[in-house]
Amino acid sequence: YSEEEKTEDYLFKIVLIGDSAVGKSNLLARFARNEFYPNSKSTIGVEFQTQKMDIDGKEVKAQIWDTAGQERFRAVTSAYYRGAVGALLVYDVSRHLTFDSVGKWLNELHTHSDMNVVTILIGNKTDLKDAREVSTAEGKALAEAQGLFFMETSALDSSNVTAAFQTVVKEIY
Ligand code: GTP
Ligand code: MG
Repeated sequence: YSEEEKTEDYLFKIVLIGDSAVGKSNLLARFARNEFYPNSKSTIGVEFQTQKMDIDGKEVKAQIWDTAGQERFRAVTSAYYRGAVGALLVYDVSRHLTFDSVGKWLNELHTHSDMNVVTILIGNKTDLKDAREVSTAEGKALAEAQGLFFMETSALDSSNVTAAFQTVVKEIY
């Protein structure tokens, strides 16, 4: 590679989606800043973070967009999805209702973006072991049926957070 090629920038837009309070903002905070907020408030409007990543020795920039799961706090949906090449669809393993919403989120994603947006289904909050309502097998089965990548994470104890974002970016790249 020439020096020019080596320093070439790639910027990928990735969106976080899923019901309110599943941990989207904390997954992003953990990934981008290694922070966690035990009492975070619902996101209002849209926030995004640009994060540099190293993929196979190349610098890649992921621009990760985050909005509220709740309808009344959301920004214009089409603008949120426009240009996205990756998506993290998050549910909370301790609240089955948030898993039941996955189909609804997939519909919205496919309505507003390219069919081949790289999507990973994420079961977050694995640290809440005694409160689990969605088994790993259940999550995996849905992901397979829908052709999605799958991972379980905890923004609280950090497990699999970087891996989840990296899975998406690697596949896009
Ligand atoms: P909206 O912005 O309303 O859509 O919610 P969100 O999906 O961004 O959720 P947020 O990151 O604000 O987290 C909601 C609550 O869950 C907060 O109290 C977090 O501290 C908590 N939380 C997030 N991730 C985890 C996790 O992995 N484990 C545990 N135990 N709590 C978590
Ligand atoms: Mg949020």
